[in-house]
Formats: sequence, C-alpha cells, structure tokens
Amino acid sequence: MASLAHFERTSVSHGPGEAHCADGNLNARLFDTRRVSLELAGPLSPEDMTVQPMEDASPTKWHLAHVTWFFETFVLAKYARGYVPFDEAFSFCFNSYYEAVGPRQPRTHRGLLTRPSAERVMAYRAHVDDALAALLSDHIIDPDLATLIEIGINHEQQHQELLLTDILALFAASPLRPAYREAAPPQMPAAPDPIRWISYAGGIHQIGHSESGFSWDNERPRHDALIHPFRLADRLVTNFEWLEFMADGGYRTPSLWLADGWNLVNREQWNSPLYWEQQSSGWHEMTLEGLTPVRPATPVCHVSYYEADAYARWAGKRLPTEFEWEIAAEELPVTGNTLATRSLRPLPANDELTGTPRQMFGDVWEWTQSAYLPYPHYRSPAGALGEYNGKFMVSQQVLRGASCATPDGHSRATYRNFFYPHQRWQFMGLRLAAEML
Ligand SMILES: [Fe+2]
Repeated sequence: MASLAHFERTSVSHGPGEAHCADGNLNARLFDTRRVSLELAGPLSPEDMTVQPMEDASPTKWHLAHVTWFFETFVLAKYARGYVPFDEAFSFCFNSYYEAVGPRQPRTHRGLLTRPSAERVMAYRAHVDDALAALLSDHIIDPDLATLIEIGINHEQQHQELLLTDILALFAASPLRPAYREAAPPQMPAAPDPIRWISYAGGIHQIGHSESGFSWDNERPRHDALIHPFRLADRLVTNFEWLEFMADGGYRTPSLWLADGWNLVNREQWNSPLYWEQQSSGWHEMTLEGLTPVRPATPVCHVSYYEADAYARWAGKRLPTEFEWEIAAEELPVTGNTLATRSLRPLPANDELTGTPRQMFGDVWEWTQSAYLPYPHYRSPAGALGEYNGKFMVSQQVLRGASCATPDGHSRATYRNFFYPHQRWQFMGLRLAAEML
C-alpha cells in the first residue's frame, strides 16, 4: 500500500531483517487514545448517545463504534491471525464512506440505530481493544502495521473532536439546553486587546509536510509556492468585533456577501453565529457548559465560511490563504487551548504574548480563503484508505490551526482541515489578513 500517512521512523527502531520493534510509545498512545474517547462519552446517557440532531452530526454511539470498526477492518482483519469479527452486521452499521469496503447505513440515518445498544457498543470496543493488545504484545511489529495503528490513532482523535461538536449540536437542539459539563464561568476581560499586525516577506516558500513525523496524505508533497508579502492579525476575531459587525447591519448588507452566502443568509434567516440566542439580558450562546452570556473578548465561534468572508470584507481586510497561515505558523510551538486544557471553549488571547501571532493552535479552527485542492503531484494512496482524504477535494474550504476540541498532538503547521462553506457546527472562527502597506 502506498503510505497514506508518514510517521517518525525514530519511533520504530530497526530489528532483524525487515522486522521492526514497536516501542512502547505507539502502544501507550493507542490505548490512551481509546481511553480518552470513553472519557469524553462519560457524561452521557445511553439516550444522549443515540440521537442524531442533524445530517452532519453523528450520534456518540456511532462515533465510538465507527472508530472501533476502523481498527477491526484495517488492522485486525489484516494482521491478527484468526481474528473473528465481533458482529458481522457491524460493518454495514459503522462503515462511514468507504465504497471499497461495502454498503453502509446512510449517513443521514445513523440516529436510527437504536440497536446495537450503547452497552453492546462498549462490549465491541472491549473486544477490539483486547485483540489489539494481543496483536501488539508481539514485540516484532511490521512497519506497515505500525503505520496503520498510527492512522487509527489519528482517525479516532478526529472523531473525538466530532463527538464533542455533535453533542453540542444535540444539546443546542434540546429545549432544556443541557450542559455537557457543569463549570463555573471563567473570569474574562470585558473587551479584547487591540489587534497587532505582523508582516511577512514574499518570495518562494516551501509548503507542505517534510515527511518527518506523522502527516496525512493531503499535506504532501512538500512543494514551492509563490507568496506575495502580507500581514496577519496577531489574534482571532472576537465576539466584541462580531457584535459590531451585527450592529452595523452585517447580516443585512448584500454587498458584503458572496452570492451563495447571501442566498443562504436569506433562506435560513441567519442574523448571528450558530447557537447564539438573544435574550432580554443580551446575547447568549449555547456551549458545552450550557447557555451562557456571549463573552466579548473570546474568539467568535460557529461561523460559516460565508460569514467569515463577509466579516473580513466589512472590516476592509480579507481571510488569509492557507499558505500564508502555514508560513506564519511554521516556526511556532504547537501549543494552545486544545482539548488537553479541557476548557472545552475558546478563550481570550493571552495579552502577555506579543510580537508573534497568538491563538494559532487551539480555540477555533481558522477559515482560509483557499479551496481544498490537491497539492502538485498529489496522488490518492491505493486501497480503501485512499478514500480518506482525496475524494473530498472539491467544493470545500481549508481551515488551519486547531480548536478547543482538538486532541493534543493532533495538529501541526501543515495540517489541513476542510469543510463546506455553509457548515458552522464545528469550532470555527477566523483571523484577518491584509496586503502589505
Ligand atoms: Fe471516520
């Protein structure tokens, strides 16, 4: 199989012949990832785990089973001698979009899977975990197997983020507006600090992953790109600024909008970000901590590409390209308000950090003006896993960075997230860019 993902070969030491010895790190990360999924599902009842609030959002139970099916199908079926699938019917229930693997429950009908029960899905997870542990107990690990385990870890991490955004969508649709987690409201400044602009030189820049450490196939090949000089805001756009945009008629001014976006705003009667509700005491937003007042200094979240683009036009600026974003991020540490902090919400920028862009990793994924396209000389890998990224390279926009729901260690400067321009249920926001003065 052409390698879908690259991972650091230093994590696999060479053994005799073609075999490689798996170090304990891969094993530990696998089972830690499996544990975190259960931790995230911990506050939920079996009923919470079953319902699908909309087409884009899947039930928690489906996520927990699908990532398990992924290991069963792409790892155990190939490498675990004598492995017997937990339930032959599960491939239909929990295949997501792999045409090469076979037919499946329609995406729009995942919420109809009242069976298998949540309890049986947990038994499925335990069955597959036991088989994975037995497989990895052999200290001689084929490098292709190690690659597949790495892909499975990163795949499950992606679904951990989706699990949280999909639970938020479910609870936002409930008249009770339940909190996924009860928490005291954090102390936050009343207004954001001013944006500082950082300048970047133009020229020929190298874009894409260098193939040292894990990356998805869509981050490669690394290639040259011509970049014009540009400026980038040192922090994300905040709710404070979004409220100004709304007060200035941002959602009612057609000249600010792309035609498709303006049609959508009118058809759906959008007048604020997703999950915002106007109450007598002001705007509130549904969060994983329930319905809370909109905090001015925090990054605006749950906006579509169309809204981000309209805001940038209103502000007299533009969205960055994905390559500009990558150039600004490539020397920065991959740290920030990610899932590791367990804040589960975007937070204000740290006003003690100046001179470099802030909030590049964590808080919200950042819309870019770049269409999600293959890099020069990209080829989808062979086999079913070649369907992972390549077949989605049309009609979507790239988002860069990471969000407050992104598992720690999952993102990097070259990481390309992608969604359709109308979608806004993920933790999505924006940062402004501009031409050089
Ligand atoms: Fe998946």
